[in-house]
Amino acid sequence: MNPIDLRSDTVTRPTPAMRRAMAEAEVGDDVFGDDPTVIALQERVAGILGKEAALFVPSGTMANQIALAVLGRSGDEVYCDRNCHLFNYESGSPAFIARVQLQPLDGERGVFTAAQVEAALRPPDHHHPPSAVVAVENSHNRGGGTVWPLPEMQRISALCRERGLGLHLDGARLWNAAAASGVAERVWAGLADTVNVCFSKGLGAPVGSALAGTRELMDEAHRMRKRLGGGMRQAGIIAAGALHALDFHRDRLSEDHRRARRLAEGLAEIRGFDIDPERVETNIAIVDFTARGIDASVFAAEVKSRGLLVTLAGRHRVRLVTHLDIGDRDIEAALEIVHGLYG
Ligand SMILES: Cc1ncc(COP(=O)(O)O)c(C=O)c1O
Repeated sequence: MNPIDLRSDTVTRPTPAMRRAMAEAEVGDDVFGDDPTVIALQERVAGILGKEAALFVPSGTMANQIALAVLGRSGDEVYCDRNCHLFNYESGSPAFIARVQLQPLDGERGVFTAAQVEAALRPPDHHHPPSAVVAVENSHNRGGGTVWPLPEMQRISALCRERGLGLHLDGARLWNAAAASGVAERVWAGLADTVNVCFSKGLGAPVGSALAGTRELMDEAHRMRKRLGGGMRQAGIIAAGALHALDFHRDRLSEDHRRARRLAEGLAEIRGFDIDPERVETNIAIVDFTARGIDASVFAAEVKSRGLLVTLAGRHRVRLVTHLDIGDRDIEAALEIVHGLYG
């Protein structure tokens, strides 16, 4: 029997209908700019996000790094949350690729405030790195799928405009944030200069992300993608998977959110398992068992031996993520496994 795989929403397999759409995609050479399916995807994404243009890229990491590189200059400073993806999980790329310096801020479950940014900004002085960009992640992965409060994001956007800073939105899971908050993707995107959205996470496509912004910024982004070796030829094959995901998998994300909430409710019943179901807003549940001193790697190994896969999120914390390939019965079975061991 296949394990119940709650490690990430990236583990999904393309559905038969998605595979068909990919197999039948019309393609061209996208490096020459003539792949019709890539063009259609880019236009579709720009439309959803209310941006002038979008650029198809292989990964969310590449989208984030291109964004930092086009919004900042080498040696500039970027403000972000201490637990955000681009600070923790992109292998030092802000230094290696975008050549910017990060100043992490201590957010609350991934959310920092405009006041924190303002306090962190550097006075203009040759001793300091130039303050250039703010990066916000919504929904916030390591924060536990947190959706930003819209007013805080609006305050940060206004501050960036006032101070001449760029604002990048890492919206790898912006689709989830929109579904959970009822605030459309274009509203969030309208507050930022550049937006990364991923098709390979909650939407269930096998590959790909897009970066969106003004035509001018996307023109620079295109050059940067080329520099990174991210130009893809008959990329319509994978763009078709992303288009299919936008058509058929975007409206179902609230099901994943409901299942993550149910999972959290079941886990919260166990003594010493710290998780507040009310705070599970999207498809990510992070449970902390510091109170019982349970080692996360021991937990992960024990549940794995019974057919449940999770990821470590700290010494005493694990992350469980719901997605397209997880149904109600999987959630109940996962809870049975954990209750059987620790309940
Ligand atoms: C919030 C966030 N941003 C960016 C990425 C990077 O995406 P990729 O794995 O496609 O490079 C991820 C991946 O999980 C993510 O969770």
